[in-house]
Amino acid sequence: MSGTAGVTEPSFLAKLFRKKNLDTILADSQNQEHKLKKTLSAFDLVIFGVGAMIGAGIFALTGSAAVGDETHIGAGPALTISFILTGFICGFCALAYAEFAAMAPISGSAYTYTFSTLGEFVAWIIGWALVLEYAVGNMAVAVAWTGHLNEFLANNFHMELLPAISGNTITTVKSLKGLDPSLILTSVPFTIPFTTEEYLLVVQQAFNLPAALIVLAVTSLLLIGVSESARMAAVMVFMKTAVILLVIGAGTMFLMNGNMETLHTNWFAEGWDTFSPNGFKGIITGASMIFFAYIGFDAVSTAAEETKNPQKDVPIGILGSLAICTILYILVTAVITGLVPLDKINKEAAVASAMDMINNPWASQLVLIGAIAGLTSVLLVLQMGGTRIFYAISRDGLLPQALSKIHPKFQTPHVCTIMTGAFVAMGAGMLPITLLAEMCNIGTLAAFVVVCLGVTLLRFTDPHRNRPFKCPLGVTLPIIGIVGCIFVMTGLPLMTWVVTAGWFLLGMVLYFSYGFHHSKLNNPSPNDTNKQLEAA
Ligand code: ALA
Repeated sequence: MSGTAGVTEPSFLAKLFRKKNLDTILADSQNQEHKLKKTLSAFDLVIFGVGAMIGAGIFALTGSAAVGDETHIGAGPALTISFILTGFICGFCALAYAEFAAMAPISGSAYTYTFSTLGEFVAWIIGWALVLEYAVGNMAVAVAWTGHLNEFLANNFHMELLPAISGNTITTVKSLKGLDPSLILTSVPFTIPFTTEEYLLVVQQAFNLPAALIVLAVTSLLLIGVSESARMAAVMVFMKTAVILLVIGAGTMFLMNGNMETLHTNWFAEGWDTFSPNGFKGIITGASMIFFAYIGFDAVSTAAEETKNPQKDVPIGILGSLAICTILYILVTAVITGLVPLDKINKEAAVASAMDMINNPWASQLVLIGAIAGLTSVLLVLQMGGTRIFYAISRDGLLPQALSKIHPKFQTPHVCTIMTGAFVAMGAGMLPITLLAEMCNIGTLAAFVVVCLGVTLLRFTDPHRNRPFKCPLGVTLPIIGIVGCIFVMTGLPLMTWVVTAGWFLLGMVLYFSYGFHHSKLNNPSPNDTNKQLEAA
């Protein structure tokens, strides 16, 4: 037992679970050295949320989720139900986020909320999970960006990017069932046979250059400033929302103009088996994959510290953007699966190619352009969200202080913006989209569970705190949110769990080798000793 002038050194466990008082967190965020510029309105935040949400999930993953692929069974047209189910679960979590964000409008989102409820160690784990959400999620989005660029170049200029500069280094996963492994071995430099009996991880030399370059372009924009980036995102959000509405409108008109038979055949040719070829399991697997499409409403909470009137505007931003996207997703999925027979749904660009079915090639070109713009806006928003998480973690001393430095001219956290950009560009260049999206899903679902748990706990431990926004029905909805998220997690494949476990292991090593020793709570200033340290 050692300590400074009469203060007893807390035990190892007490240190792991030390909490930051919410008032201290709010005061910290006003510290001039680390203060962010307040420029965003409720409208900006709704744009921000929609900007983060409509992207790879709907434009690129819907096809695989409906049809299925080597590692997933498909949901079929019942993917519409997957979207409804996931929309509800996200709705419950969004209410919890809105309550927390209005109560504590700070940039660290779930990480900061956890610090005040479950303590430093769990907060670090959630911060690490959020890196999966924002950084790894963005890698997936950048890969989808290349996919749509390729489709656009092929359709308009009959050219295709070489696999060596548009593919990924590790390509999961070839089914070995009925396939001669030597065929794979001759086509790529080497393979790692570490996976299950059925699948093989194939490693080839490739780098997805367009994905890396678009990430670097977005990073440069974010360095210049948040309001500039928000303006740019607004234009792209408008484009992608317009093309989704175009698909819903044109598709519905086509079906209503004497083609309802098409919808009936595609949904119910052989009754329920056509609508839901893999039953409830297919619906859950679909839900766990397209959960990616919903990721982003929570990113609104990372901008709370840069919002003019966060108590009112952040809940509007979170709930408004989620409501808009949920309705659009359900409708567009119903239209795609109604128009296109399941075996003809395009796995790379399901939304754009659905327009080919109504003999409208110009519409599918427009959708491709809207999708490229849409994916760019997701990159912008998630990249900004990711840097704000790193920034908040570093402000607490769990990552090096340099990461929370603010650029004197642009007032943006430039060091962590550049580092995050480099990290995302590397990952996007090398890894496959489904693995990235699903790792992102696990990280996000974990964060959602903890936020719902935190809101529930705070209702009991700090019942009198001012809550400018309150989840209705007490703690019922956050608790349903927790159960729902765990349920969706069960639909993810084992391989994704294994890789994600490795990620969290790395996070623990970092925490115990750096964060634990450098945490600001190790040396609280005399003024806030009492406020900051609430040993568990
Ligand atoms: N929801 C975002 C997307 O689908 C991450 O791209």
